[in-house]
Amino acid sequence: MFITFEGIEGTGKSTQITLLKKYLEEKGYEVLVTLEPGGSRIGKELRKILLNMESTDLTGESELFLYLADRAQHVSQMIKPAIDDGKIVISDRFADSTIVYQGYGRGLEPKLLRELNDVAVAGCWPDLTLLLDIEAAEGLRRATTRNIRDNKMMEEGRFEAESLEFHSRVREGYLTWAALNHERIKEVDASRDIEGVFEQIREIVEASL
Ligand code: TMP
Repeated sequence: MFITFEGIEGTGKSTQITLLKKYLEEKGYEVLVTLEPGGSRIGKELRKILLNMESTDLTGESELFLYLADRAQHVSQMIKPAIDDGKIVISDRFADSTIVYQGYGRGLEPKLLRELNDVAVAGCWPDLTLLLDIEAAEGLRRATTRNIRDNKMMEEGRFEAESLEFHSRVREGYLTWAALNHERIKEVDASRDIEGVFEQIREIVEASL
């Protein structure tokens, strides 16, 4: 089974992924947790380029193809082998991030992005996607505080440095894309406390196991 987590910055995806991994392992499942960009060896190199604040000269089209390259590598080297081994794979971001950030956020055509993703994922679309939803201003505040605390603003802050308007467009894009794909993408209210968010996730995952 393949589960992905999506949402704007600062929704608490990684905290919830840790809780879900533990929950599933306690039920006896083998779980692989991974992420994009950067889930493979080559992807780690691509992540540096994609998220570094110094990548100011990266064009929108190059950004798109680097994310797709990261994904193709990630699917073939990490995700597919783990699924074939019977593991549950949980990825922090996947193909929907490209449709929403490069599409609704940057203005590329979502339908074209869906088709390009088809090439990158090679048949490996998620079985379930959890969309953690929070107001853009709150998410951005949490993400920026975290980057400053972890001293990662320069290395990882390229998207956090985008305007609130960009993040609001991305949030709205996620909600639109989720409505168009409601059988796979389930919305979670991420403004609640950690336990309150996990309770919603647990119920959704239980229903799809
Ligand atoms: P994160 O590891 O903090 O989630 O950062 C990844 C950033 O990359 C995040 O701002 C969203 C962005 N992103 C895209 O724009 N397109 C993509 O396809 C992916 C996977 C991420």
